[in-house]
Amino acid sequence: MTAQLTEKFTGLFGEGGDIRPYFAPGRVNLIGEHTDYNGGHVFPCALTIGTYAIVRKRDDRKMRFYSENFAQLGIIEGCLDNLGYDKAASWTNYTQGMVWTFMEKGYTLDTGFDMLLSGNIPDASGLSSSSSVEVVAGVAIRDLYGFDDVTMTDIALFGQYTENNYNGVNCGIMDQFSIAMGRKDHALFLDCSDLSYEYVPIHLTDEKIVITCSNKKRGLGDSKYNERRAECEEALSELQTKLDIKTLGDLTEDEFEANKYLIKSEVRQRRAKHAVYENQRTLKAVEVLQRGDLNEFGRLMNESHISTRDDYEVTGIELDTLVETAWQQEGVIGSRMTGAGFGGCTVSIVKSNCVDAFIKNVGDTYLEKIGYAADFYVVEIGDGGRAL
Ligand code: GLA
Repeated sequence: MTAQLTEKFTGLFGEGGDIRPYFAPGRVNLIGEHTDYNGGHVFPCALTIGTYAIVRKRDDRKMRFYSENFAQLGIIEGCLDNLGYDKAASWTNYTQGMVWTFMEKGYTLDTGFDMLLSGNIPDASGLSSSSSVEVVAGVAIRDLYGFDDVTMTDIALFGQYTENNYNGVNCGIMDQFSIAMGRKDHALFLDCSDLSYEYVPIHLTDEKIVITCSNKKRGLGDSKYNERRAECEEALSELQTKLDIKTLGDLTEDEFEANKYLIKSEVRQRRAKHAVYENQRTLKAVEVLQRGDLNEFGRLMNESHISTRDDYEVTGIELDTLVETAWQQEGVIGSRMTGAGFGGCTVSIVKSNCVDAFIKNVGDTYLEKIGYAADFYVVEIGDGGRAL
């Protein structure tokens, strides 16, 4: 893979110099949705699919970017002296945004670089292709410029900073953190209130993780993501008129029920309810999984979907059709939407010998009801971002 990409790189940018390869994965969240920016817990894992980057430092202040996934855009040029967000710069707002963030954080790049990217994460699918690009750029910049004190956690935080302050998406830390820190065959149990985490082994002997991409495209920036976040912040400040809490993740279900009257709109009550219950559900899910009760874990995944559908309202007909059809299939342990929602993907745990029938049946029903096809990926859990 990297030999082929390096050849492509030299074809585009010329031979010679110190050409280096990097990789950062995509991620799938098993449970704990829309809890990260509410100070709760998440349980994502890194995938073996992701973004490859081939990079070489330049002698001048230019940056040149090329992505095989956006080949029609050709080489996009930037310059270290002009790092502002530029809509016309398309996907390079993620890579150039990372350069901007390094500079903001006091890490000065004295020269530019050439970068070729190639990703095998379906674009805008909810598997975090943009965070994967940020993390791979972060790993490359750290390595090329010798910023050795930058940790993988820093790179995750730089990625989130880039989204929030450069690309205008008020996302939480889950995606960048799991992509930077993921570990093969483990999920990352992350407490987003203080970034403490634990790797939990995922032993699927007789089951597979199946991701189904709805192919309904969405961009986080123009979705209702920021609106949900604002609704939660408002609900939190209403609760804080009486309660001494820092985030919605501080509450148990009972504490929420006893105090929800403080939230003055029914819609905001449901948003906050999801954040509180989903966080508690994630704690339970990890506990039952560690006890080896995969069926109960699956049941909690299903409950999580219902909560994102009815209380948080981030699913929509495409994701609901995929999940509700999945629930009817033989051998399905659990199925839910994953990621921000509003399109994107679902994640299902399916008995290995039922995967083919699952793909056929869910695929047929989806095509018939929605009018276009879904894509299925049987995925493996891989390591986080790294030099190759
Ligand atoms: C997106 C965001 C994450 C998280 C999820 C929802 O993926 O980037 O920070 O909020 O949505 O759980």
